[in-house]
This record gives sequence, C-alpha cells and structure tokens, in this order.
Amino acid sequence: MKTLHIVGSPRAERSLSRKIGEFAANSVGGPIETLDVHAEKVPFHTASSIALNYGFGDYAALDADSKAAIDAQKRYVEQLRSADVLVISAPMWNFGMPGALKAWFDLVLKVNDTFSMDQNGYHGHIKNVKKAIIVTTAWGGSYETAPMDAYDYFTGHVLTALGFIGITDVKLVRLEGVNADPDSVPAKTADAEKAISEYLSA
Ligand SMILES: Cc1cc2nc3c(=O)[nH]c(=O)nc-3n(C[C@H](O)[C@H](O)[C@H](O)COP(=O)(O)O)c2cc1C
Repeated sequence: MKTLHIVGSPRAERSLSRKIGEFAANSVGGPIETLDVHAEKVPFHTASSIALNYGFGDYAALDADSKAAIDAQKRYVEQLRSADVLVISAPMWNFGMPGALKAWFDLVLKVNDTFSMDQNGYHGHIKNVKKAIIVTTAWGGSYETAPMDAYDYFTGHVLTALGFIGITDVKLVRLEGVNADPDSVPAKTADAEKAISEYLSA
C-alpha cells in the first residue's frame, strides 16, 4: 500500500497539520511519497500549458514557464496514479486552502486525463486511490457548525475536487482551535489520531 502525502503547510516541524498527516501516512504502513507544495514551488498554469491540456500546441514550442507547468503536472498525476492512499494535510488560510495547494489541484485536475466529460456529464478517472485522509487545522471556532460553517471554503472545495477526479472514500479530520504552537492541543491531537486509525482499519 503506497501512500502519497501532500503537505500544505510550510511550517515544517512546527506544523500540526503536517505532524498529523505524517501520523496518517505512517499508519498505512507501506512506502510513503511526500510532496511539500511550498518547498516544491508548484508552478501555475500558463496560457500555453492550458492550451496544451486541451490539445492545442506543441510541447517542444513551449516557453520555459509553460514547460515547467506541464512537466510538474505530468509528475504530480503520475504520483497520484501510483498511490493507494492519499493524505492531504493543510491549514485553513483565509477560509480556504493555501494557494500552493490550490496550484497543485489546478494541475492534477487535468481534462481528458484525471477527469473527462461527455454527454452524460463528468467522469473521474483516478480509481487507484482507495482511501484518502484530509487533515486540516484552523484557529477560529468550529467550522463544522453554524455560524462558522458558512466561512469554510476549505473542506467543501477539497472534497469536491477529489470527488471530481474519482476519489470518493475520504475521511476528513479537523483540528480546530489550533494556534501557531503545535503543543497547545494535545487532547485534540489524540482524537484526530484515533479517528485516523479507526478509518484505516475499517
Ligand atoms: C496566512 C494565514 C491565514 C490563516 N487563516 C485562517 C483562517 O481563515 N481561519 C482560521 O481559523 N485560522 C486561520 N489561520 C490559522 C491557521 O489555520 C492555524 O494556525 C493552523 O494551526 C496552522 O496549521 P499548521 O500548524 O499546520 O501550519 C491562518 C494562518 C495563516 C498563517
């Protein structure tokens, strides 16, 4: 069972989302591939890389930025296709996901590759990922219940994007009331680890 861990916090060992994400990846028990989207400097799409995704243009004629986007996209999609389990760990930033993680999603949701569309609608093509765990940290109140649920543009976005490419068995693990000090929430950490262990053993 291979795990792909997408790390969405740049805070290295100070990051609680990363720490619990690592717990999840280690709990699977097989090889782990880690992609830290900030360390990686995930490129943005360009006009030409978008055109190539739709079948227009030539790779050889691309400028350097467009080639970087296409090369990274190929690698990220291959990583996704080789994984049995996906872990995404990331903090809520300004009610959504960190921009570098969004840049990763913008590349891996690839038309006529990880998803397609026809007269019957949209189809997701990532069938190898059997289980996925999203670990998300936030400082504010509970984003699961009113009134703060209206501010949560993170979890719905990530769940929808994963479902769109075919990843539907997803466990969402929230750690809330987390500030910049990862040692301030030991009890909630234990709850998160328990939820992850139960999901993986089910
Ligand atoms: C740029 C930035 C934006 C943030 N925006 C929010 C937010 O919208 N809501 C919230 O509850 N916490 C917000 N936070 C707090 C983080 O979600 C929180 O500190 C989290 O624990 C950091 O996760 P990490 O330890 O994995 O880095 C923000 C933090 C930063 C640095």
